[in-house]
Formats: sequence, structure tokens, C-alpha cells
Amino acid sequence: MSYETILVEQRGAVTLVTLNRPQALNALNGQVLSELLEAMAAFDKDASQGCAVITGSEKAFAAGADIKEMQAQGFADMYGYDFFAGWDAFTRTRKPIIAAVAGYALGGGCELAMMCDFILAADNARFGQPEIKLAVSPGMGGSQRLTRAVGKAKAMEMCLTGRMIDAAEAERAGLVARIVPAAELVEEAVKTAAAIAGMAPLAVLANKEMVNAAYETTLTQGVQFERRLFHALFGTADQKEGMAAFVEKRPGNWTGK
Ligand code: CAA
Repeated sequence: MSYETILVEQRGAVTLVTLNRPQALNALNGQVLSELLEAMAAFDKDASQGCAVITGSEKAFAAGADIKEMQAQGFADMYGYDFFAGWDAFTRTRKPIIAAVAGYALGGGCELAMMCDFILAADNARFGQPEIKLAVSPGMGGSQRLTRAVGKAKAMEMCLTGRMIDAAEAERAGLVARIVPAAELVEEAVKTAAAIAGMAPLAVLANKEMVNAAYETTLTQGVQFERRLFHALFGTADQKEGMAAFVEKRPGNWTGK
């Protein structure tokens, strides 16, 4: 499959997706969304693929939703077509996705990074929700995911002032998992993704699903959900293999069953 706004390549069991609209600093327009959704659906269905990485350029992961595409839209267009609702499908991807962020991750770019399962940041990464400067607001989940990631004080300040935070502040605030030198970002993200893709596939799905449940449930419900999925993993052949491999001091050989 070939796309115009993204590049997709398979590196072993890792799908590497590169946002590719350099002339617009990877601004996310409708075409990026539909191509990304198609690529992620194909990734999710492909049994040879275990983890994805989404990245941009060294200057910009993505500088936001496409302002030029939105500029002339009115309320009827936005509300009537439920603009941005398509991104919900991205978050239903069942296999893990790592955001490898260098440069600007602003507005929708920051929101896309937060829709991924975790963010690896280059040391030059900058995150922000500057929509207020355009007299609008986050619209792809930023006010909700940023608040859950960094807490109310910093999220509120970022949304109300549009202030960008650098990689070090983002790491301190819990927005990013780890900072990597910019020149090593993609290789490090692919290496991390390959490690995840090398785990037992059903356990990977279950771990992602239960961590995400923490955002949707009470503690009691979340702990119960975790325990039931943990129990369910004892119905898999890979659990037998994983524990036998530990006892026999050898690597596990997964079947995905
Ligand atoms: N949409 C459309 N085009 C964009 C864009 C965006 N979000 N961000 C940058 N571009 C375009 C610029 O218009 C420019 O195109 P031209 O050469 O045709 O003029 C090109 O990308 C390069 O940008 P700059 O010349 O501005 O580059 P810079 O290095 O001087 O500045 C920047 C970089 C600080 C990131 C600046 O581009 C900027 O502020 N961009 C907009 C950031 C923003 O407001 N993002 C939020 C968008 S709204 C949103 O995302 C809503 C939501 O919640 C989903």
C-alpha cells in the first residue's frame, strides 16, 4: 500500500510510520487521518507485526491539525460532521503504538502523541496546546489526555497560555516515558518496539488493555479487570511456555496461542 502523506515500512515485526508533509510541518489534515487509519488497521490485522512506531521529522513530529483546512469551516461543518471524531478509531488500535517525538508536537500533534501508548521524546522535542492563540481549544482529546498525564495545574497553564514545554519538563511531568538524543530517536524507538513485539502477543494485548482501563474505571473495577485478564492469560499456551522457559533458563518461544 502506498500513501501520500505518510511513509510506512516494516522493520521485522515493527511497523514504522513516518508523517510526511514536511512543507506543512506534518500538520494533520483529513488525508493524514484517513491514511493513518488505514495503515493502523492493516498493522493491527497483520499477524507478523507486533508493535508500531509513529514519528515525524527532526523539526516537527506534527505542528497541529491543519489550520488552513479548518480556517473556513463553520459550526455546522464541524459539529455536523463531528470533525476529529475519526481519531477515535486510531485509539481503538489493539496493538501497542509508540510515539517517537522530535521537534514540535503542538496542538493535534501533541494530541496524536498522547493517543499513542507512550511517548519517547528526542532532546529537542517541544510539546504544547497552543490552540487558544487561534481562539479555539484542543479538539483531539488534548484537554483530557494532557490533564490525566501531567495533572490539572500544568495542563491548565498549557491550554490557557499556549506555553510550550521542552523534553526535560515533559519528562518531569510524566508526559513522556524517556528522553533520547535526537539522532538516536527512531532507532531507539524501533528497538523498544522490537522488544515489545518479541513478547507473547496475547500478553501484550492484555497489558495494553489493562493499563488503558485505569483511565476508564474506578480503582476497584480496574483491579478486578486486571485480575480477570491475568487469570485469562493462564488459559494461553504462551503462559505455559513463558513459565517453562524461565524455569529451564531459556528464551520463550511464542505461538500467540
Ligand atoms: N497547519 C497548517 N500549516 C501549518 C501548521 C498547521 N498547524 N503549522 C505550520 N504550518 C505551515 C506554515 O503555515 C508554513 O507554511 P508556508 O510555508 O506555506 O507558510 C510551514 O508549515 C512552515 O511553518 P512556519 O513557517 O510557521 O515555521 P516556523 O519554524 O517559523 O514555526 C511553528 C514553527 C512554531 C510550529 C509554527 O509553524 C506554528 O506555530 N504552527 C502552528 C502551531 C499551532 O497553532 N498548532 C495548533 C493547530 S490547531 C489544532 O491542532 C486543533 C486541535 O486541537 C486538533
